[in-house]
Amino acid sequence: MGIRVYETALGQQYCCDCLEYMAEMPAASVDLVLTSPPYALHFQKEYGNASQRNYVKWFLPYAHQIKRILKPTGSLVLNIGGAWTPGSPLRSLYQFRLLLSLCDEVGFRLAQEFFWHNPAKMPAPAEWVNVRRIRVKDSVEYIFWLSTTDDPKADNRKVLVPYSKDMERLIVRKISPTRRPSGHNITAKFSEDRGGAIPGNLIISGNNESNSNYIKASKESGKKIHPARFPAELPRFFIQLLTDQNDLVMDPFSGSNTTGAVAESLGRRWLSIEIDRKYAEDSGIRFEEAVSRDIAKADGRRKPARQMKLLNLDGQQSLIGDDETAAS
Ligand SMILES: C[S@@+](CC[C@H](N)C(=O)[O-])C[C@H]1O[C@@H](n2cnc3c(N)ncnc32)[C@H](O)[C@@H]1O
Repeated sequence: MGIRVYETALGQQYCCDCLEYMAEMPAASVDLVLTSPPYALHFQKEYGNASQRNYVKWFLPYAHQIKRILKPTGSLVLNIGGAWTPGSPLRSLYQFRLLLSLCDEVGFRLAQEFFWHNPAKMPAPAEWVNVRRIRVKDSVEYIFWLSTTDDPKADNRKVLVPYSKDMERLIVRKISPTRRPSGHNITAKFSEDRGGAIPGNLIISGNNESNSNYIKASKESGKKIHPARFPAELPRFFIQLLTDQNDLVMDPFSGSNTTGAVAESLGRRWLSIEIDRKYAEDSGIRFEEAVSRDIAKADGRRKPARQMKLLNLDGQQSLIGDDETAAS
């Protein structure tokens, strides 16, 4: 079942091909699979990417395993970036083909599509955007929330956002029942204070965390920063929306293990798989003191319970806890 690279109070990081790992997992055992697999990019990332033409064929075996290991109440949240067609100013349709195959062939249902707006995205491809100026910056990525039944576990009261100033005024003043030109009936209930507004399906967050402790700690210890992280805000939103404390959250393409670190800070069990040994090992830095405190602070929690056990290939363990130092 692969090499266990480290473990914490709530989770485990493995290094292996996630397809092989999932094939050995029990059916219906995971509450949420939240992941960002390598995209079908024209410009290859250093960890390799399937081509646009082969992408669906490449991903479907993983999708079948993910469907098998999800509980009937569970969800798959798939972050997938768009791509340009090589040599032309046209967009690839690969992620739409993937979505259709996931639903038509594998049997997933589309619970809802989301968009991740990354304001810090670089303008590219240079030829179309910067030189000929015939396209604009591509600054959103798709997030498909899929489920195996019509009614996956979800509660939007766990992800409420602050009311707008206008809404705060309405709550104080109260609203008189009216009918909007759109046909919506607005009743007095509309101005009840329910603790916050229901968020939309747009997640706005840069992933250029230049000041984050993860980046700082990686630089200080000479570890390479993973080239394709998603921001902590992305797993945070879906873990809160779709799971309860102690539920199991899995990221089969875990990279720098953003998912595991956020799951731990929110009191969820987690399981992360990464095929690249260096990425898997280096991701342990997210559980070192300063970094985990940073994530916990963002979640409004005190320091998460943590003590990381780093495991090396010989099966020897070293503890990284409040009083211990990591073995190199
Ligand atoms: C887009 S990155 C994920 C980044 C991650 N969301 C984060 O925030 O750091 C995709 C990762 O999947 C890994 N990967 C590719 N094929 C894999 C496989 N078959 N099993 C496990 N990991 C794989 C790559 O090495 C890469 O680190």
